[in-house]
Amino acid sequence: MKIIIYGSQYGTARKYAEELAKRTNIEIKSYKDVTDIDHYNTVVYIGSLYAGGVLGMKKTLAKISQCQNKKIIIATVGLADPADTENVDNIKNSMKRQLSKELYENARIFHLRGGIDYSCLNFKHKTMMGLLYKKAVGLPEEKKTAEIKAMIETHNQKVNFVDFESLNQLTDWI
Ligand SMILES: Cc1cc2nc3c(=O)[nH]c(=O)nc-3n(C[C@H](O)[C@H](O)[C@H](O)COP(=O)(O)O)c2cc1C
Repeated sequence: MKIIIYGSQYGTARKYAEELAKRTNIEIKSYKDVTDIDHYNTVVYIGSLYAGGVLGMKKTLAKISQCQNKKIIIATVGLADPADTENVDNIKNSMKRQLSKELYENARIFHLRGGIDYSCLNFKHKTMMGLLYKKAVGLPEEKKTAEIKAMIETHNQKVNFVDFESLNQLTDWI
């Protein structure tokens, strides 16, 4: 039995998960609706990044009791460009803190690019992004990583980097 689980606040990760479900014919659920994860032998988790955390992933995957005999695939969805190795290293380091060592080592991890529409952000997220932006623009040029530069460039805008072609790497693995 296979399942695709998504953690999405504004729909980008959900859209990737829905497209993957359409292509593979696998059952799909929001992390909020997952109760028994243990009876699936393939678990695909697609979650959006919020301040380095993958939405819903930690508490959902912690419900897996034996991960060695399962196929676990995790895809993050964020604004930062996954083609940049520094971005990927940052995401992976943060994921190590959210998953058990066993789970992290057993999972196949992918990174997809999402988007953002500032006009849709809730108050908390708008405030967080405003504070991050203020801090970022004040940084000396050499301290601005690709991730920070992308955040500055897209501030207060609507950008969409969703690319369903990038799901091919996941379908091959599934
Ligand atoms: C408050 C906030 C924090 C974010 N933190 C990150 C981050 O750490 N890394 C990243 O790549 N993108 C970050 N993003 C961008 C989101 O991951 C991106 O908009 C994603 O597509 C949202 O997915 P969703 O539409 O499924 O909720 C952040 C966005 C907001 C609003």
